[in-house]
Amino acid sequence: YPFWAQQNYANPREATGKIVCANCHLAKKPTRVEVPQAVFPDTVFKAVVEIPYDTSVQQVSGSGSPTGLNVGAVVMLPDGFTLAPQDRLSEELKEETAGIYYTQYSDDQPNILLVGPLPGDQHQEIVFPILSPDPATDSAIHFGKYQVHVGANRGRGQVTVEGEKTNNAIYTAPVAGTVSAISTDANGATVVEITGASGSVTETVPAGPTLTVAVGDVVEAGLPITNDPNVGGFGQIDAEVVLQNPVRIYGLLAFFAAVALAQIMLVLKKRQVEKVQAAEGF
Ligand code: HEM
Repeated sequence: YPFWAQQNYANPREATGKIVCANCHLAKKPTRVEVPQAVFPDTVFKAVVEIPYDTSVQQVSGSGSPTGLNVGAVVMLPDGFTLAPQDRLSEELKEETAGIYYTQYSDDQPNILLVGPLPGDQHQEIVFPILSPDPATDSAIHFGKYQVHVGANRGRGQVTVEGEKTNNAIYTAPVAGTVSAISTDANGATVVEITGASGSVTETVPAGPTLTVAVGDVVEAGLPITNDPNVGGFGQIDAEVVLQNPVRIYGLLAFFAAVALAQIMLVLKKRQVEKVQAAEGF
């Protein structure tokens, strides 16, 4: 869950560029983001995070029964960019963000936004309303091109906060040997006993993954003894946004106008010369 990232990591992006959700959501699935190429200061715009998956597929719940997938996302904006306040949203943005609860990563990181878990079948697209900062009112902010980092996930994780496997993960043989017994314990989990060179070892498989071995099978250490129940996955992507100085655009437009005018003047001048030449009988 996004709040586990909050609780366990001061910054959701590691020095390598990996977003920390990937530490527990081990499968990779696509994530996309749409942001404008450039935005003006003190302007509301949106970042659209896409978390596509096949909604007809179900995953295993904590108890092992089939259930739908939920989605969540983290958006890391450049310094100064924040969640747009409700009173500055257009009617369209209000509609697109209705019912979505956005949190900032921490008190001193209002530029990092979290969403989720949300029901995935209704939220394969999550709209983040964003307010750009104004260099005129904040001297720490400068015009320029900045990176946006986005991570988004669908489905349950494979690792818990304590570092244990969830029931939405592959289980493997702890040692090489022969499967000597398969039983069910008091919690409904399956206990697989493997007898190897140095005696018997058991691996407890909770309800969720399906066993792929039977009594008598020879297994190798570290190789799967269940299927992979995980149908979800995490993906991250970077984007760029330019905090654009409007004066530059006005300057560019003025330059274009000047060029267009100069061209027209040259044509007129040429016509004039041609007229003079015609009159003088060249
Ligand atoms: C569940 C997103 C970080 C471990 C979920 C779910 C979402 C999500 C949307 C619900 C999935 C569903 O019910 O179908 C995220 C995002 C993260 C993040 C966006 C980063 C910002 C983490 C971290 C851990 C973790 C750091 C491990 C410490 C899990 C586990 C579940 C889960 C174990 C399943 C919980 C259960 O159903 O029992 N996460 N997560 N997640 N997440 Fe994360």
